[in-house]
Amino acid sequence: MLKGKKIVLCVTGSIAAYKAASLVRLFVKEGAEVQVLMTSLAKEFITPLTLATLSRRSILVEFFNPENGAWNSHVDLGLWADLLLVAPATANTMGKMANGVADNLLITTYLSARCPVFIAPAMDLDMYQHPSTLRNMELLKSYGNHFIEPESGELASGLVGKGRMAEPEVITKTITDFFANIDTPLPLKGKHFLVSAGPTHEKIDPVRFIGNYSSGKMGFALAEQLATQGAEVTLVAGPSVLMVSHPSIHRINVVSAEQMFEQCISLFSQVDGAIMAAAVADYTPTHVFDAKHKRDKEDLNLVLKPTRDIAAELGRLKKEGQILVGFALETNDGLQNAKKKLVSKNLDFIVLNTLEDSGAGFNVDTNKITILDKENKILEYTLKNKADVAVDIVNYLKTQF
Ligand code: CTP
Repeated sequence: MLKGKKIVLCVTGSIAAYKAASLVRLFVKEGAEVQVLMTSLAKEFITPLTLATLSRRSILVEFFNPENGAWNSHVDLGLWADLLLVAPATANTMGKMANGVADNLLITTYLSARCPVFIAPAMDLDMYQHPSTLRNMELLKSYGNHFIEPESGELASGLVGKGRMAEPEVITKTITDFFANIDTPLPLKGKHFLVSAGPTHEKIDPVRFIGNYSSGKMGFALAEQLATQGAEVTLVAGPSVLMVSHPSIHRINVVSAEQMFEQCISLFSQVDGAIMAAAVADYTPTHVFDAKHKRDKEDLNLVLKPTRDIAAELGRLKKEGQILVGFALETNDGLQNAKKKLVSKNLDFIVLNTLEDSGAGFNVDTNKITILDKENKILEYTLKNKADVAVDIVNYLKTQF
């Protein structure tokens, strides 16, 4: 719903300007007040009459009305708006916005606006990929503007690629979701969490390591869920092919248990809580061969030394108000082993998954967990996909603050 929201829609000279008519109609239908502002070139692509009729307001193009000298105040417009949307945004307009080239009403209004700004680019694929366009978009992002990514597909030029403005329905949903999030503050807003994820690789020689089957799926799903609920997340990830998409997740890549230990320990004092979802190697070779170890007829004995226990060390460092969560992947005596780890590592709760349950554990998309907390509470959950398991864990975490 956009009820009562005031939106300044800035339309620039792109063929995608025809989509502005649908945008205005959708915004008005959602209850928004829409003031359309056009560049002179945009008028060649869609008539002001169409947009004025749909928005029920006169369209603004010039600094003043040449007929009667009435001044169109960019300052007033900038203050009036709850949100300013540039759709379609051409390479030219983005260049001017990025560099403050204030030669039309659109740019002066943008520079005067105190509200959130959304930009939906539209252009041909080569223009979109040009270093100057990319640099201008980076600059605009660094000023805090939000981008609504163009889609890939057939472009007006006949070329196929990225550059087609997002559909009006997609833009409207992005903006409605944005207002919904500000109007209902997210539950973990202002909190910062550390999440460890993935396996570690313990080097044997330049081409070999000791590792485990962890994919990182559970830890990455937890990081995404914490961020979705408003938290800032630092994800310390062992080698994993997974990607993070949420802008509130800051990823730090590590390889070995020792590197993961150092990162987690140095970050812990800055966070409200930590979830240790990584499958950290318990042992690492005492000696790393400098060159590739050659095949031999004799047995090869590797001497391994224990790694440092990150969760246990965080348990020792934990201060009043910080929450520490661990995982226990067990093959037998699950509850008993998880309980021991909960106590010995000074955790607030532990998430047990056992390989006795099919569909749980490493490298699968599902998990079946049991939560044990320090008050001896035991909660069993059904088999779910890891994104839903992450919701259960994060919801339980919220009860601990
Ligand atoms: N963990 C850790 N650092 C280690 C080993 C484990 O932080 N060096 C964390 C894991 O991320 C997990 C919890 O401790 O949250 C339990 O890990 P697990 O491997 O199940 O337990 P261990 O203490 O290593 O005991 P064991 O392997 O003997 O079961």
